Amino acid sequence: MSDTTAKPVTLITGGATGIGAATVGHLLAAGHRVGVTGRDEGRLERFAAEIGAGRDVLLPIAADPTDYASVGGAVRATVQEFGRLDAVIANAGFSTHDNLADGDPEQWREMLLVNVLAPAVLIKAALPELTRSGGRIVLIGSTAGIKNTPGNMYSVSKTALTSLAENARVLVTGSGVGVTLIAPGRVDTPFWSSHPSHEVPAGPVLTPNHIADAVVWALGQPAGVEVNTVVVRPTGQTH
Ligand SMILES: NC(=O)c1ccc[n+]([C@@H]2O[C@H](COP(=O)([O-])OP(=O)(O)OC[C@H]3O[C@@H](n4cnc5c(N)ncnc54)[C@H](OP(=O)(O)O)[C@@H]3O)[C@@H](O)[C@H]2O)c1
Repeated sequence: MSDTTAKPVTLITGGATGIGAATVGHLLAAGHRVGVTGRDEGRLERFAAEIGAGRDVLLPIAADPTDYASVGGAVRATVQEFGRLDAVIANAGFSTHDNLADGDPEQWREMLLVNVLAPAVLIKAALPELTRSGGRIVLIGSTAGIKNTPGNMYSVSKTALTSLAENARVLVTGSGVGVTLIAPGRVDTPFWSSHPSHEVPAGPVLTPNHIADAVVWALGQPAGVEVNTVVVRPTGQTH
């Protein structure tokens, strides 16, 4: 039996589907122990059963990524289970798929909480443990946060996240913690089920595995090396 206590420990939010689920799989394959959050405990447990990893390496945690107490509980549960924390990945996010003229401001409120407040809350909750371990923070942004999509509040939220990544980097780099923004282009995930067409718009598209690869590559950099921004588009995506 291998000694799992030597494996790095990573906590990811909203990891039961899409990019998060693929990232959990890639992290486990790369030898991490993983805490994974989601709001729906049943769905999380089904995901954990499907992926087939034991409780010694995968801990599902029901948590609301926008709630500081809930996220703090997820950090504590991960450290209690695995003894340390080496990385956090702020992955939970969604789009209202609308524009400033026709969108619903209440949905924008929720989107801003999930896409901007939740990553900030995760950083705050995890920072003491990451400072202890010299760990890493990964934020899942978007090309919509790199290149402005006029009239689109999702683009505004992800632009704020791009800003948060650099803001956090400057704050924590002196304490040995690294920050990486991964900005995907279009990816075929349940993200698009809330789009008016209920499917990924026509055109080039990535798979969740492409983004999971980028996350694990960034986390796998040697000590003293930090990848700060990774933009991954499907070839042919213009924006
Ligand atoms: N798919 C794309 O084309 C694309 C492109 C660029 C960036 N991204 C970003 O990639 C990240 C992952 O998205 P995905 O494409 O993998 O989509 P996904 O499969 O829908 O996953 C998004 C996750 O975010 C959580 N989430 C969604 N709405 C939430 C809410 N209102 N409150 C709290 N948590 C919520 C969900 O977790 P639970 O429901 O389990 O709690 C879900 O697992 C997001 O930050 C997204 O903005 C996606």
